[in-house]
Amino acid sequence: MTDRIPLLIDTDPGVDDALALLMAFNDPRHELVGLTIAAGNVGLKHTVANALKLCEVAGVEVPVFAGAAAPLLHPSPDAGYVHGQDGFGDVGYEPARRQVEAEHAALAILRLSHEHAGKLLLVALGPLTNIALALKLDPTLPERVARFVVMGGAVTCRGNITPAAEFNIYFDPEAAHIVFEAFERIELADWEAVIAHGFLHDDVVQWLQADSDRARFYERISEKTRLWSADRRGAHWHAADALAMAFALEPEGALEVLDRALAIELEGQHGRGATIVDWRGEGGAPARVAILMRYDQERFQGLIRGALAAV
Ligand code: RIB
Ligand code: CA
Repeated sequence: MTDRIPLLIDTDPGVDDALALLMAFNDPRHELVGLTIAAGNVGLKHTVANALKLCEVAGVEVPVFAGAAAPLLHPSPDAGYVHGQDGFGDVGYEPARRQVEAEHAALAILRLSHEHAGKLLLVALGPLTNIALALKLDPTLPERVARFVVMGGAVTCRGNITPAAEFNIYFDPEAAHIVFEAFERIELADWEAVIAHGFLHDDVVQWLQADSDRARFYERISEKTRLWSADRRGAHWHAADALAMAFALEPEGALEVLDRALAIELEGQHGRGATIVDWRGEGGAPARVAILMRYDQERFQGLIRGALAAV
């Protein structure tokens, strides 16, 4: 086998993060070198515990690093109403035996970027606070990252947490601004792409019948958010981080990607956290964001099925 691609995931698990992590655990072409944990969906205590528990259920021994407990500047509401107050459906699981590493997530991101310089696939599935902190400590970080895939934003301002903004960006817009200004290229799976790539709840129920500990655990922790979603959004379920992870693991599945300039709105009663895209390309800023418009739905769903069935 050719050398595996080193993969570092910054995440705020969260039920859809968990599905994305299961996809990463199941990909033979990538070597997962670390999980750096953000606050976002729920508080850092829970997101760290959830990451450790998912690794234990999956039998995956990857180091887990705790990051920032709050956004850089302004406090922000979490998404416990979607994921459960503990972020994993409030099922009351037995905590994992393994402990979190002592090293801070921002320092781990920098260290791993040196250890895997030029080859690292960095994937961000939550608010960008840890990555912004890493950039403030060492602005040369982007030089060592081969690919950077982000789940976040709403490219025509059809948000999910405010009318204009998506949760990950809205939770820490200052961090998002720092990150989007620092990287020469960001591959983006935004909320609007997520909505365009939903899958039927009935199909998910079938996929969860797989005979695996991962499927059993995921069925438990996802039930609350799946019921919430069916009630609010109808027959299709949307796992935002899973789409970003498909784009990261198998970019060849992307059917349409548009390169555009994108800026983060930091001000405004209504617009804070919005991702403003220069669609006509007339603003003069470099088109550094590769926006995923269409992904192969069958390939996407196959990655999810495989991740749940893996033992
Ligand atoms: O808007 C969706 C994003 O916000 C996902 O990453 C979800 O896990 C939450 O963090
Ligand atoms: Ca997330």
